Amino acid sequence: MILEYENIDNINRYKLMSDTVIPRPIAWIVTEDEGVINAAPFSYFTPLSSDPATIVVSIGHKEDGSQKDSLANILKHKKATICFANIDNLDDLKKSAISLPKNESETKTFNIDTHRTLEDYPPMIKSSHTALFCDFYSQIDIPGKTVPLVLELKFQYIQDERINDKNHINLENIARCGSYFKVMKDI
Ligand SMILES: Cc1cc2nc3c(=O)[nH]c(=O)nc-3n(C[C@H](O)[C@H](O)[C@H](O)COP(=O)(O)O)c2cc1C
Repeated sequence: MILEYENIDNINRYKLMSDTVIPRPIAWIVTEDEGVINAAPFSYFTPLSSDPATIVVSIGHKEDGSQKDSLANILKHKKATICFANIDNLDDLKKSAISLPKNESETKTFNIDTHRTLEDYPPMIKSSHTALFCDFYSQIDIPGKTVPLVLELKFQYIQDERINDKNHINLENIARCGSYFKVMKDI
């Protein structure tokens, strides 16, 4: 069967693409504005290059057409902390997907502990085993309501016991395959 994307509506394109490009990482993007810590889950992201160390994340808009808070904060402050999900914080992550008013913090509302690991970056989610501290690099202009942002990795937090002297990292992150959540483990 050949599927012609031009003739498929957006919802079905999303279903097809997210069932095919698997797994997708699940992570909070933590940003800040005017003292409010914003933490929202994202999955449409992928590594782009190691030099410069960059990832791309695609952020949509709110139902009213305004920018999602994560997008607005990254474009304004040029900083984001990406905190990966694991089996112990998945429930918190799902809760924090709700769209709150911009001056309301998901971490406060849902009692999600954060830790200011690096002074110049938004705090990380305490229960994450690893986090990437990123600067805004560029925006990719495509038509439609999704804004792909390129973020440059400047620092990474990793729990000491999860990295060895050869820089091999051992994580059991949560990923998304289609609409399912899966724990990523070695086989
Ligand atoms: C597992 C999961 C993955 C998500 N991935 C994305 C994504 O890649 N892009 C996006 O725009 N929204 C994604 N969302 C929805 C956002 O988390 C949601 O719109 C959130 O309210 C945005 O919050 P903000 O306005 O504080 O940025 C995802 C939600 C969940 C639960």
